[in-house]
Amino acid sequence: MGVRDVLKRIVGGVALAAVSIIAEAKTTVTSQPFGKMPDGTPVEIYSLSDGAFEARIATYGGVVVSLKTPDRSGKTVDVVLGFDDLDGYVANFNGSADAYFGAVIGRYANRIAHGSFTLDGHKYSLPLNNGANTLHGGPHGFNNVVWKAKPVANGVELSYLSKDGEAGYPGNLTATVRYTLVKGDLRIEYSATADKNTIVNLTNHSYFNLAGQGDILNHQLTLYASRFTPVDAGLIPTGELKAVESTAFDFRKATAVGSRINADDAQLHLGRGYDHNWVLDSGSGKLVEAAELYDPSSGRLLKVLTDQPGIQFYSGNFLDGSIKGKGGKPDGLHAALCLETQHFPDSPNHPDFPSAELKPGQRYHTVTVYSFSTR
Ligand code: GAL
Repeated sequence: MGVRDVLKRIVGGVALAAVSIIAEAKTTVTSQPFGKMPDGTPVEIYSLSDGAFEARIATYGGVVVSLKTPDRSGKTVDVVLGFDDLDGYVANFNGSADAYFGAVIGRYANRIAHGSFTLDGHKYSLPLNNGANTLHGGPHGFNNVVWKAKPVANGVELSYLSKDGEAGYPGNLTATVRYTLVKGDLRIEYSATADKNTIVNLTNHSYFNLAGQGDILNHQLTLYASRFTPVDAGLIPTGELKAVESTAFDFRKATAVGSRINADDAQLHLGRGYDHNWVLDSGSGKLVEAAELYDPSSGRLLKVLTDQPGIQFYSGNFLDGSIKGKGGKPDGLHAALCLETQHFPDSPNHPDFPSAELKPGQRYHTVTVYSFSTR
């Protein structure tokens, strides 16, 4: 066989491989413009549709803009809070009432006390954006940047280079977030590498309301966690891992979110409701079920699987109707809730907590699945 024939065969093989990847993908992935940032940077929105379910992801903040899922009779609604257009997100994410609707959170999800931590003997100071503390990466976190995007089988892969010193964190950090949607499973795969010792804790900040309207007080929640991390007045963990047994924090059996939310409990007062990190019993680093959320009215069921050590259950306590969300509708108290898989808040200042450090040569890699079905 001549060189030409050999080449033809190889090229044919590559083409065949490409065809078979696309043939395996069950989900259609399309993209369209979603507007422009104030500086003119174009933003795209990707639609992932597997028939019954559809997720739309923006390259600004990696935001899950909408998530349409059927109820037990097949009727589809959008089960996440957000805005109708890019301007809504940009205004909110740069304003004082930043709700982080649907966004990727980084470099460090949740709070870092006084925006300060020490690594290799060097003290780092981050800009404060939550009283005396830094929240969700600071004012220019990963929710507030435009990511590069490429379509992949069943989804989209976003990538972002956070430069050494950006938002106060050490090292160039290359982060990728891959969203795929298959048969109602929205899978989020986070990866990162760095060229200096740094810290990383990525999550997604979707606000779920499985009824698509009203509040989430009748949603039944299960958290596979026997302990949680109590907080101080700034919502910084005290360091204690407290047993949930005999407290309003025991969700080991499915319990309505609203059944104890107004209990006379010091931790509930501090959080204005639930706004705490639960210590997942699995703690194995393996992808297992961490939480289950069920809406009896619609039959929608959301299972959250993760390999992370913690989950923040936030019951939408800061929503007070001042944010006008989709369709201009005000998002009132407890209009939705968040289940943010994560390292424990303020881990860099708690040597006893699982470490959120990332060293050069290591690869941060974690998976969370939001799995939708009905019952
Ligand atoms: C949550 C956080 C809350 C609140 C919210 C955004 O993740 O735990 O305290 O800051 O984000 O409003």
